[in-house]
Amino acid sequence: MRIKVIGTGSALPAKIVTNEMLSRIVETDDAWISSRTGIRERRIAGEETTTDLAVSAAKAALEDAGCAPEEIDLILVATFTPEHCLPNTACAVQAALGCRNAAAFDLNAACSGFLFAMNTAQAYVEAGIYRTILLVGAEEVSKVLDWEDRSTCVLFGDGAGAAVVQAREGEAMRFLQFSDGAQGQVLACMERTAENPWHTAEKPPKTLTMDGQAVFRFAVRRVPECIRQLLAQAGKEPEEIDWFLLHQANKRILDSVANRLGVEEGRFPMNLDRYGNTSAASIPILLDEVRRKGILKEGDQVVLAGFGAGLTWGAALLTW
Ligand code: UT7
Repeated sequence: MRIKVIGTGSALPAKIVTNEMLSRIVETDDAWISSRTGIRERRIAGEETTTDLAVSAAKAALEDAGCAPEEIDLILVATFTPEHCLPNTACAVQAALGCRNAAAFDLNAACSGFLFAMNTAQAYVEAGIYRTILLVGAEEVSKVLDWEDRSTCVLFGDGAGAAVVQAREGEAMRFLQFSDGAQGQVLACMERTAENPWHTAEKPPKTLTMDGQAVFRFAVRRVPECIRQLLAQAGKEPEEIDWFLLHQANKRILDSVANRLGVEEGRFPMNLDRYGNTSAASIPILLDEVRRKGILKEGDQVVLAGFGAGLTWGAALLTW
């Protein structure tokens, strides 16, 4: 059995923060940010919470799929910036939408989270456990950023994307996923919100820290390697793939992956210029955009690939 995407949705905070606006709070400028990253603006949440964004995106995906809330068997929300520790965001989505027959849990694989959630959905479907699954990637990275650190605060944005997938006869979606916990410190958020009277050790930073160059090197090496490995297993060449929907971190990373695969950049749709890096939300927001624009055609071969903190990375090959 394979999964088929039957509906998508996305939700973005109303507030647009341009590079020029950032140059008024940290020592940076539009020329540096856009030339090094491709990002021109991002959405930053004000009143909206991660839960609000997740619910809005999920609602839009259900409507798009023409799917009743009761039909959903499982809700997976990928996030590393939930509004609360408990209850999890997936249960909040369940309650808000009335998906009363669903099991619901969150999954944290940072920027690879939505991809890992989709792979999990495929595994459940293939095992015959669930038939209709709601997948959400939702983040408010702005809540864990150090807004005085120009090397990180210019890169990220907030948002949510969702997809409803359903079991169909046919060969299972192929996917690969990897982790390298030994490299965990290159992109970390060591926040501890609770204290106890016996905890006297020095507190780790509450905001996101990153060795940008190490993450860059990791991404440009591991992502094309992983896509090639996936395609080799499927007996396909990169030029046979219609669309590559990659985690939207940096235009230079996407260009480098395209170059290393020998594929023209036009087959890598991008929206990071408008939204920045929205972590687990970036792939489903992009998927929703290209789907609604009618870019994806029945039968298209689509590669999804994610990479990020953990370190985690992976790819999946979908027949649209
Ligand atoms: O989902 C995965 C998330 N992470 C990523 O995608 C990060 C991947 N890495 C990158 O995208 C890039 O490494 C960055 C965009 C983060 C940085 O680009 P870079 O070309 O690697 O720059 P750099 O870190 O080598 O910094 C070059 C210079 C430094 O100044 P000096 O030491 O040469 O004087 C930085 O202090 O640029 C400076 N710099 C800035 N200048 C203006 C760093 N951030 C900024 C800034 N504005 N916002």
